[in-house]
Amino acid sequence: MDLIIKNGMLVSASETYQADIAVKDGKITAISNDLGTDATSVIDAQGKYVLPGAIDAHTHLAMPFGGTVSSDDYFAGTRAAACGGTTTVFDFALQDFDEPMLDVIKRRDKIAAPQAAVDYAFHIGVKDIHGELLDSMQAAVDCGVPSFKIFMVYDFGVSDGVFYQLLEKSKEINTMISVHAENNDLVNYNVKKFLSAGKTSPWYHYLSRPEFVEGEADLRAIQWAKETGAKLYIVHLANKQGVEAVTLAKQEGYPIYAETCPQYLHFTRDVYKRDDGRNFVCSPPMKGQQSQDALWDALKRGDIDVVATDHCPFMQSEKDWGLNDFSKIPNGCAGVENMYPYMLDKANKGEITFNKAVELCAANPARIFGCADKGSLTIGKDADIVIYDPNKDFTITCEKMHSDYDHTIWEGTDLTGYPEMTFSRGKLVFNNGEFLGEAGYGKFIKRQLTE
Ligand code: URP
Ligand code: ZN
Ligand code: ZN
Repeated sequence: MDLIIKNGMLVSASETYQADIAVKDGKITAISNDLGTDATSVIDAQGKYVLPGAIDAHTHLAMPFGGTVSSDDYFAGTRAAACGGTTTVFDFALQDFDEPMLDVIKRRDKIAAPQAAVDYAFHIGVKDIHGELLDSMQAAVDCGVPSFKIFMVYDFGVSDGVFYQLLEKSKEINTMISVHAENNDLVNYNVKKFLSAGKTSPWYHYLSRPEFVEGEADLRAIQWAKETGAKLYIVHLANKQGVEAVTLAKQEGYPIYAETCPQYLHFTRDVYKRDDGRNFVCSPPMKGQQSQDALWDALKRGDIDVVATDHCPFMQSEKDWGLNDFSKIPNGCAGVENMYPYMLDKANKGEITFNKAVELCAANPARIFGCADKGSLTIGKDADIVIYDPNKDFTITCEKMHSDYDHTIWEGTDLTGYPEMTFSRGKLVFNNGEFLGEAGYGKFIKRQLTE
């Protein structure tokens, strides 16, 4: 055996139990009460939790966006992921205009493959479906990328007609359509209105995109998914009206899924009144307390399926472009290293169960996005394993993080409990604060939807 982890509390989405777990050639080979000590490496996890590595279903690494490129490349982003107990990232590969879907994957994989320190998959961010491009989705599916994101906002967002066509196509070839839902016309109108009145602070980023601007777009997206029968996954859901629409659609039996992010569970719109409010500028923006409460309630009752990060950090100097104009701030914040520790802290404090944290951060993204070898501690699956110390106090500071960014919205956040070790396919990539992985170790993960 290569590795035996002994005496830990193993956590799945439904059970917590004490057992040993054995690993050989990167796979989980046995889970039992006493597996002995006949292994190259034996670790005593008495008093610790043993968890599946998290899957971050939503990252933007080295993504050209907002007049620059997000500051974590595939090495920095996956290094940070490993150090926060995340062993797989699903990154957004943005299509260029006129580019067939398979070319998008090949182009991004040339950058990702030599850099990734943990495993990765892609979603394609669709910009253009003219001519043969719509049909080229099938080639991406055949290559293991069965999920596509559309943006209802930004200068590359698609029209309602294109969105609807993508849903029809998706129904035909069984893919997942993810959507960034906000009403683009209202955002653009509001931004213009505020700037021309000299209202330039980050608070007006929030006021340009308040609750109903997101909620209305959620309703439209869900309506069209219902009409077409297509599967729809709402990314970074942050408002109460959208939560209610997701809950209703699920009750009616539609395949509608929802993701939220730790920043929406932790911060409210009040951050935009802070002196460093620009650092929190992301879209959709953090909302009011009622929306945050609705997100937590939905998460606990199972109407939020996934917690992911939308990791899209920018350097302070780039965030500062918006010191006198909120519309110039590149949208996005860091989070890939913080997601699992944050959700596990909530479990440790009894606000959710450890099983729920595993369900949201590992089991559900694996199931929903067809990642068969990952997401749980099961014999035959990849040995993506986290040993978590529930008694270790940790305060997040930028210096202790492993990204390339120079500030974090999570600065000063106190957590109880923290990942102690992370294994990616059996390889120790993080140990007690130290990154031990290497660029190029991470593999492209082919996915196939099963639902
Ligand atoms: O502000 C954000 N969320 N930036 C990343 C791109 C996106 O919209 O997901
Ligand atoms: Zn988005
Ligand atoms: Zn995003």
